[in-house]
Amino acid sequence: MKVIKAKTAGFCFGVKRAVETVYEQVENCGNEQIYTYGPIIHNEEVIKDMEAKGVRVLRSEEDLDALSGGTVIIRSHGVEKRIYDSLNEKNVRIVDATCPFVKKIHNIVREQSAQGRYIVIIGNPEHPEVMGIRGWAGDKVSVIQNASDAENFSPDKNEKICIVSQTTFNYNKFKDLVEIISEKSYDVSVLNTICNATKERQTEAESIAETVDAMIVIGDKHSSNTQKLFEICRKACNNTYYIQTLGDLDLNQLGSVETVGITAGASTPNNIIEEVQNNVGIIF
Ligand code: F3S
Repeated sequence: MKVIKAKTAGFCFGVKRAVETVYEQVENCGNEQIYTYGPIIHNEEVIKDMEAKGVRVLRSEEDLDALSGGTVIIRSHGVEKRIYDSLNEKNVRIVDATCPFVKKIHNIVREQSAQGRYIVIIGNPEHPEVMGIRGWAGDKVSVIQNASDAENFSPDKNEKICIVSQTTFNYNKFKDLVEIISEKSYDVSVLNTICNATKERQTEAESIAETVDAMIVIGDKHSSNTQKLFEICRKACNNTYYIQTLGDLDLNQLGSVETVGITAGASTPNNIIEEVQNNVGIIF
């Protein structure tokens, strides 16, 4: 009859900072229209709350181009350099909530590109964070997300390579892909830019999942870090559930388990985690 909640469940430092930035701007900007470029986090509940307070989400670059004023908040994922350039050309105030750990990757990529290195980003090419990182590199840049990409990677033999990672990428997969590239005898410099918050959350989730009868992973269905967390937990515990809110959880389905673990992705607010914890606690 035990509920074990991961200490690392929920908002990481960067997401917490970005969410707080939006609410601060709402409080302090008077009548000025506040926009976020893309949803500030992958969580429908939080976005709905912000929209109710007047914040508008810009969904595309066309939306950005159409602006002629207001404040645009850059979310923790960060954006390409050209987005700052385009906003600076307009009468738009930028509030930058890019996570400092992502900003660090932008700086590495910009500097290493300027030194002539070929940039390799290990990550999902469709993810906004990766698209943003890519936008700080010069022309010589590739995104590698699986073994076949790494095997097919074959720039000129004289190229010096700089490898960075999407902050939420799985560490073991990163190591494997770096190994494939390193065997190709390039001059390779590797910067492990995976965020510790992700690693710690994954490690804690895995060790809890190994010891419980059922595991609950809470997070938005579009959140890539929650999806990864779910994969890790399911490997360690067959009886793992992926839910967005308490409403998705069929408490009967859990059956007669004795211990249940709870973790949550980086974009899951505390109130949602607590609600699940309290209700599961009652049932058990
Ligand atoms: Fe930043 Fe790490 Fe979160 S990179 S946004 S603190 S997962």
